[in-house]
Amino acid sequence: MEQLELLRADLAECDEILLHTLAMRNRIVEQIMAYKEANNMPIIQPEQEKKQAEWLSGQLEHTRHSREIQNIFDEVYRNSKKIQARQLFDYNIVLIGFMGAGKSTISSYLNTIFGMEVVEMDQIIAQREGMTISDIFEVHGEEYFRDLETNLLIEMQNKKNVVISCGGGVPMRERNHPEMKKNGKVVLLTARPETILDRVKDDHSRPLLENNKNVEFIEQLMEKRRSRYEAVADIIINTDGKTKLEICEELVQKLQG
Ligand code: S3P
Repeated sequence: MEQLELLRADLAECDEILLHTLAMRNRIVEQIMAYKEANNMPIIQPEQEKKQAEWLSGQLEHTRHSREIQNIFDEVYRNSKKIQARQLFDYNIVLIGFMGAGKSTISSYLNTIFGMEVVEMDQIIAQREGMTISDIFEVHGEEYFRDLETNLLIEMQNKKNVVISCGGGVPMRERNHPEMKKNGKVVLLTARPETILDRVKDDHSRPLLENNKNVEFIEQLMEKRRSRYEAVADIIINTDGKTKLEICEELVQKLQG
């Protein structure tokens, strides 16, 4: 019995060390962020993350329970990213842009680098309706789909520090604009029609483009939409020829500025 008590006391000591270490680690993460911001350095540094991962896997090679420890570290690293994201954005990031402008790609990358929750509007609507976007258009009509979008935007207003990836048509309804602004900062992603065509050519989930996969159509629809997109955007990022990392760095910089 005595021995059990001693072991429990040792375990409690370990937990205390862990607790203090994690608190210290989080403070350091905040200090690193502040340093990078003060010195105009890139916030996202994937090579540093890679170094940490390599160090850890080397350490775990001959350690017992390596998988369990790895899991904990994964969570520690992910939480550091969330701390960074909360420090950078105390609002939601609302991504808009034409079909194929890169909204889903950038949302998912923001999830990878900042651990931010992603709300993919099209996906949620399709899930809730139990059918694809194309089927919703066909069965209920476009207006019905647009109402679902507006309602979802309003529903998302109680969230914070999430990425909301809007369907390409969301900014076309002017009454959606204040709803998007209430949520946070609106980021418009743009690309040349040629780039868009290249990105969407093998995809069949977009009813508006299905029989119109050519540069002229895309250019015309884009031109029709441009003023609405620009009217609601807080910042604009052109994505042609840029990597996900470059786009996200630009996003962070422009939102800070
Ligand atoms: C639409 C864009 C699509 C989807 C629907 C209509 C549009 O979303 O909401 O097909 O009007 O631009 P993505 O922009 O994510 O492709």
